[in-house]
Amino acid sequence: MTGRRWPVDKYGGLAMISIDQLLSEMTLEEKIGQLNLITVDQAVTGSVGSDDMIANIRAGRIGGVFNVWGREKITRLQKLAVEETRLGLPLLFGMDVLHGQQTIFPVPLAEASAFDADLWERTARAAACEAAADGIDLTFAPMLDVARDPRWGRMVESPGEDPRVGAAFAAAKVRGFQSARLSARDAIGATAKHFCAYGAALAGRDYAAADVSDRALHEIYLPPFHAALREGCVAVMAAYPSVAGIPMAANRELLNGYLRQKLGFAGVIMSDYGAVAELIQHGVAGDIVEAAALALTAGVDMDMVSGAYVSALPEALARGLVEERQIDEAARRVLRLKRDLGLLDDPFRRVAVADAPLERFKGLALDAARRSITLLTNSGVLPLSAGVRRIALIGPLADAAGEMQGPWSLAASGESNVSIREGLAAALPDCEIVFSPGVEIEGEDADGIEEACRRCAGADLILLCLGESGRMSGEAASRAAPVLPGRQAALARAVLALGPPVVVVLFSGRPLALPWLFESAQAVVAAWFPGSMAGTAIADILTGRFNPSARLPVTWPREIGQIPIFYAERPSGRPAEPENLFTSKYLDVTNEPQFPFGHGLSYGAVELTHLRASAETFTIERELTLAVEIDATNRGGRAIEAPLFLFIHDVVASVARPLIELKTWRKARLEAGETQTIVFSLSLEDFSFPGPRLTPCCEPGVFEILVGESADRRRLLSIFVQAKQPDAPRSTSGFSEGE
Ligand code: NOJ
Repeated sequence: MTGRRWPVDKYGGLAMISIDQLLSEMTLEEKIGQLNLITVDQAVTGSVGSDDMIANIRAGRIGGVFNVWGREKITRLQKLAVEETRLGLPLLFGMDVLHGQQTIFPVPLAEASAFDADLWERTARAAACEAAADGIDLTFAPMLDVARDPRWGRMVESPGEDPRVGAAFAAAKVRGFQSARLSARDAIGATAKHFCAYGAALAGRDYAAADVSDRALHEIYLPPFHAALREGCVAVMAAYPSVAGIPMAANRELLNGYLRQKLGFAGVIMSDYGAVAELIQHGVAGDIVEAAALALTAGVDMDMVSGAYVSALPEALARGLVEERQIDEAARRVLRLKRDLGLLDDPFRRVAVADAPLERFKGLALDAARRSITLLTNSGVLPLSAGVRRIALIGPLADAAGEMQGPWSLAASGESNVSIREGLAAALPDCEIVFSPGVEIEGEDADGIEEACRRCAGADLILLCLGESGRMSGEAASRAAPVLPGRQAALARAVLALGPPVVVVLFSGRPLALPWLFESAQAVVAAWFPGSMAGTAIADILTGRFNPSARLPVTWPREIGQIPIFYAERPSGRPAEPENLFTSKYLDVTNEPQFPFGHGLSYGAVELTHLRASAETFTIERELTLAVEIDATNRGGRAIEAPLFLFIHDVVASVARPLIELKTWRKARLEAGETQTIVFSLSLEDFSFPGPRLTPCCEPGVFEILVGESADRRRLLSIFVQAKQPDAPRSTSGFSEGE
């Protein structure tokens, strides 16, 4: 290191040195140390952590620590790294900040229901502010797995079943977390996870293999990641499963090949928790040395928790399984990330920020919750009328403030969460509210059902709060039968038999197959897990203070046997016909879901008329823009906000295209009686698909454009447009795939 004495001033001096210079100063062990990501699971007690961990930090054997938070703990750990290691390289602090840090916003699946990119960005920004003040540099979010199987518990972390929604969600979340400048004190890096196809885990069983085609990857699972990277996302986490036989932690083709070479991703790729060592269980590595070598050479820079890199990369080097250059490259990417996050300049930059008052984001949490709660059915009993003077509040989730957060809310104490009981009491001070849980969320004890029924006597309305606990979805929370757990169905049936109208508020991290409940309750509201302000938001929906506007980001199955279920199915050669046995259907259950993707009610109704396009024919060219318009009239008596979805069907193509595919959506915001023209703009990309060789292509022919309030084809308005080749030679469009 010319002209500079080592160690330099560790508080800021590192930023003056190039990454190459830094690397040239580092021993092999120190370089590998940068690739080692460990967790302490907030178990930092006593001095700082376990003696081992302290010794490892001091020796430069750790590059990052995750799921530890709080100014004091982070400062103590960071001081160890900066002041007591040979080179003074700062640690990177990561955390699963999925839907808030201290203030908890709705779970991602719920927030996706808002179909509101601006909201998605604002809640990520708020989460970043709170997480940064807790010392966090990098979140392990957004989770971008397209999820079509409600058995899979991690559906709750995802933006749902649709790749376009996933892509919009990805971009908004990355913008929100990272803000305009990554080194800002209130910005944190984003990690797009889990790359990729985790949502296709076999039979919805967590960690199971995903056997998907290249076409499915390109059409369904990759677009959200593509969008995150386009937005400048700094990290990617490889998924646990094997994809077409190759575990993602060792998937050279998708990591080094697709992510790095094809998409040009220069950020950090990390494994998931323990996944490098798990390559042995996958049966692709004979020992830990091979596992470490496979992961590193596939493109995994940071080894999360398994310790394989630290323990085995030196041996892998000696065996000739990896080259030192590959270790240098990975360390370079980690150091670059630390530099971009501003840590080489000031390792304490984030913890130095004063805590935002907890109140700061409450308004946003309420807004997000109200926009995420989906009214599924309503016979007219909602909004609650002034005549409702006595409400029986029944069910194990009616007074369960802690459960309102759902999974992945590690740092939030939940103390200030608003339960339904509290929210309702505050919203309806003149109403008598009697409460009985009836049963527990899980468990076989049904003794409380009788008492719950007694409490319903004389009620004008029964509000039945049912569903899953927060920990029944998320990681390691697959359910073969996504229905009401424990004895809740018995409670519901008993209460439904009593006579007063029953409104169900359903909490869950996934759709629950409950056809009987939807048939017999007077109204059902999917609250998902709405976060800190749950009770207030639910009360606002029930009373009509807020007109529900959320729509389902996933198809809701009627029966478990229909799973996996999603709207963008490819056609069958034998579409279902009631009178024809030899068509694609079940003997015992309809093909129809309980609720289609996009379903959701408001108080009032929007009428859609006069769908039209700016041209009936268009030329396949890069600059294509086609305007599609529809008139929307609010036929109800109050202001309404309704997402309108635009789908396309490529009628005849070289690859069978889904029956309909979402391309874009717009919110209609209409005063009572108001009519507005809603305008959509389509580009060439919207008419394109991965061609026979998986490169984007737009083929001439007829396209159906469909607009409406959900993916229920029968209720969509549709027109046809025709795509034609340009007169100039075919190649000028650059979009038709040259076969
Ligand atoms: C395992 C999970 O799959 C992943 O999503 C999470 O980020 C890590 N654990 C760290 O908690």
